[in-house]
Amino acid sequence: MGEEYISHEYDVVIIGAGGAGLRAAIEAARSGAKTAIITKSLLGKAHTVMAEGGCAAALQNADPRDGWKVHFHDTMKGSKWLANWRMAEYHAKEAPDRVRELEQWGAVFDRTTKNVINQRNFGGHTFPRLAHVGDATGLELIRTLQERGIHEGIDMFTEYTVRHLLKEGDRVTGCVAYTRVDGEFHAFSAKSVVLATGGITRCWSVCSGSWEYTGDGHALALWAGAELRDMEFVQFHPTGMVWPPSVRGILVTEGVRGEGGRLTNSEGERFMFDYVPEMFAGDHADTIEESDQWVEEVVSGKIATVRRPPELLTRDVVSKAINSEVKAGRGSPHGGAFLDISHRGEAAILSKLPSMHHQFKELAGVDISKEPMEVGPTAHYVMGGVIVDAETQETTIPGLYACGEVASGLHGANRLGGNSLSDLIVFGKRAGEHSAKRATDLAQPGIDDGQVQSAIKEMVAPLERGEGENPGLIYDAMRDMMQEKVGIIRVKNELEEALEDLKDFSKREKACFPGTSRKYNSGWHQALDLKNMVDISIVATLAALTREESRGGHTRDDFPGHEDEYWGKTLNICWMEKGEVKIRQEPVEEMRDDLQGAIKEVKAMIAERAAKQGGGK
Ligand code: FUM
Repeated sequence: MGEEYISHEYDVVIIGAGGAGLRAAIEAARSGAKTAIITKSLLGKAHTVMAEGGCAAALQNADPRDGWKVHFHDTMKGSKWLANWRMAEYHAKEAPDRVRELEQWGAVFDRTTKNVINQRNFGGHTFPRLAHVGDATGLELIRTLQERGIHEGIDMFTEYTVRHLLKEGDRVTGCVAYTRVDGEFHAFSAKSVVLATGGITRCWSVCSGSWEYTGDGHALALWAGAELRDMEFVQFHPTGMVWPPSVRGILVTEGVRGEGGRLTNSEGERFMFDYVPEMFAGDHADTIEESDQWVEEVVSGKIATVRRPPELLTRDVVSKAINSEVKAGRGSPHGGAFLDISHRGEAAILSKLPSMHHQFKELAGVDISKEPMEVGPTAHYVMGGVIVDAETQETTIPGLYACGEVASGLHGANRLGGNSLSDLIVFGKRAGEHSAKRATDLAQPGIDDGQVQSAIKEMVAPLERGEGENPGLIYDAMRDMMQEKVGIIRVKNELEEALEDLKDFSKREKACFPGTSRKYNSGWHQALDLKNMVDISIVATLAALTREESRGGHTRDDFPGHEDEYWGKTLNICWMEKGEVKIRQEPVEEMRDDLQGAIKEVKAMIAERAAKQGGGK
């Protein structure tokens, strides 16, 4: 006799309750599908809340020259031309409607004096484009979607962790989960399953994500036979807290720099002026002289002089600059840089950045309206993920969909800040719509007891070992190793060592012992999370070792340049075969002619603007 479990039947099961999962669930439910969300955590805790500074959409409220073509151009350029251009096109075209829809559903965006949604500057965006709610935009997005979801009749399974995807032949037919509180087992039959589990950055010891961020969806997809791409590209957000140690990595929103925050080193120099790369020189031509004019805006209906401070270069550039300053001995006392917004004055800071003010006061005893913050890079986002069809978000496995951070394609080698919230709502909607559409044509799949029993056997294995290492120790050691050897700056021999280390961590994970209890046993959860983290870290490390160039969120000290002829046109694709991670290269698909035309148009507009401002290419 096998273990007991409780069975459920749904048309669409969505794994994850962040922005993407909630938006997918709303769309699936309102298409008539019987829909459930399963989340390992509580509602409102997803990493979506860590997209604080805003949601990028070409609403044209801050600048009428903006539009989908400019947003498309910026996303492709920010991605170092590796993004899936179809996704970038859908994203740029659909984001404004998705933002306005959120407003109709009750999101309270900051407004201009003309009573339209206000938009702020962020790195890599040609115009101020980020709709925001102070510095808590992700939280407001999630609150709005949760409230809307309640009205759509979605069933919620909170504190359930999914460990296995059920399959019938090639297609996914459901999943198996356990409850974190008391270790009960549940099997879900589903006509479509949507992964919306977020990212993997818990694999690094300095990160902005909370405990949930352990690559669950990436691993579920990998184990089920799906393909992943771009896993070498990890975004180290330039500004995490660096002090005190207990809060190291917690996000300091890019909104601080969007509102005029300046980065300086221990010698008081505004060092970002030394790091403007050739690729962005034209866009930042007007930053050669320092300026107090920190934001580009329309003044009395006319376009005011454009100033793009170098602090608003893309995140990959700013992170590496801070890293270089620290290495050169010009870092702040705790190994970062200074970020100062105090010149904006207390009233503006309390109105635009209230959470940052509170965060620094409470956690570091720093009043940011009077003194600078200390900040440094923190692992924030993985550009790589499960390969999806641009239109439907279906993965390479029939019946399995993915949206949000767990999916790949939109961001290529580097994501622009603010493009994550718009990604969640654009592609969450698409995933919900298409997963529900698929479900209408299918009979309810049966639950294969054999598969459920073998999944349960794997889950309880750590509890039955009787002895072994504490999983918490392995967890900490693995994260430290990834931070050291697969961090911002990578090099061949360290990546090779990391792969060897990960083999060892895999052995240790398989022999760890978290005690015997299924109730309230966080050691057990950690033992299971470790399996995902090791496998996904292997994928990220192998991809990083294979890409012999530096591009976006992947920097090789031994290959410092872009290798445009080959790697500029090539993607790393990973999958798993008999427990072993495999990798191959695939060419980037050539961009459709009309989109190439759009890019040329925008480049010409930017060049003309730079020329008018007296510099630049
Ligand atoms: O800095 C931030 O507020 C983060 C935004 C994002 O990752 O999109």
